Amino acid sequence: MSKCLIAYFSQGGTTALVAESIASGLRSSEYEVDLCNIGDGAPPAVDGYDLLGVGLPVYYYRPPFNIADYLRDLPALNGLPVFVFVLHGTYRFDAGTAVRRSLARRGGREVGYFHSYGLERWVGYLNEGYVFSPDHPKDEELSRAVAFGREVAAHAAGEEYRKPPDDAPPSPVYRLERFVTNRWLAEQLYSRLFRVDATKCNSCGVCLDRCPTGNISRDRNGRPVWGRNCLLCLTCEMECPQRAVSTPASWRVLRPIMKLNASRASSDPGIDHARVDRKTWQPLDAPGADA
Ligand SMILES: Cc1cc2nc3c(=O)[nH]c(=O)nc-3n(C[C@H](O)[C@H](O)[C@H](O)COP(=O)(O)O)c2cc1C
Repeated sequence: MSKCLIAYFSQGGTTALVAESIASGLRSSEYEVDLCNIGDGAPPAVDGYDLLGVGLPVYYYRPPFNIADYLRDLPALNGLPVFVFVLHGTYRFDAGTAVRRSLARRGGREVGYFHSYGLERWVGYLNEGYVFSPDHPKDEELSRAVAFGREVAAHAAGEEYRKPPDDAPPSPVYRLERFVTNRWLAEQLYSRLFRVDATKCNSCGVCLDRCPTGNISRDRNGRPVWGRNCLLCLTCEMECPQRAVSTPASWRVLRPIMKLNASRASSDPGIDHARVDRKTWQPLDAPGADA
């Protein structure tokens, strides 16, 4: 039996859902599949696998830093069949292209590229009263993922594969946003600007548990302290039960950018959205109504 490794990153669960659907398609094509969420630990070495899949959510119009690291550390793939799948809440732009190119540079032979919408519940948009792509991936997208798994198996076995074209790069405004969320700034600047309100924090440890890179430790009072290995996922802020954590995404000065992005995406007929209360982030009774 052939063996496939699917290495992916999933914080909200949507990339994991698609990974499992692709795996079920592969299993029905006689593949043994190992699924590994990079957020839970390093994936096994690729030696001994006949097929490699890499899955990611788009973060700030590019692959998350931990996926970039995974790709950087891969050995030469020497013609190993590879596939890529990408989840995105609004605009994916060329995040998938970056991963496809990186695998090709390592010597991978592409046999599939899949993308799907996935629920985007991100603090900058919650503050504006929006979630994007609610209920995605939908059943239809998951069925496509299962079929994709079967197609990948066929292409890896030698059936002709026509590479889909590269995705379009971001327009200048989104490119600027991608630039200002770059890794150097994340490490050297933003990581130092996370704050905890000592009057609200009860040292519950949710932020430590949910941080996908283990970047948060405790000070001597049990409150969170941030290191430099931050993906800017901002889960620490979003998941804090006391709403004690604040990050640059909630700064007033950045609100016009969040507002502009939210307004563009919410008026795009191709992108689903739902409204939430801007303060509590809870769904409004009537989705689509003004918050
Ligand atoms: C920090 C962060 C940044 C994101 N940036 C983008 C983006 O630039 N474009 C986009 O379409 N979706 C973006 N998203 C949405 C995710 O790509 C999408 O919600 C995806 O389904 C999440 O995958 P997961 O549930 O497996 O974590 C972002 C989400 C987060 C948390």
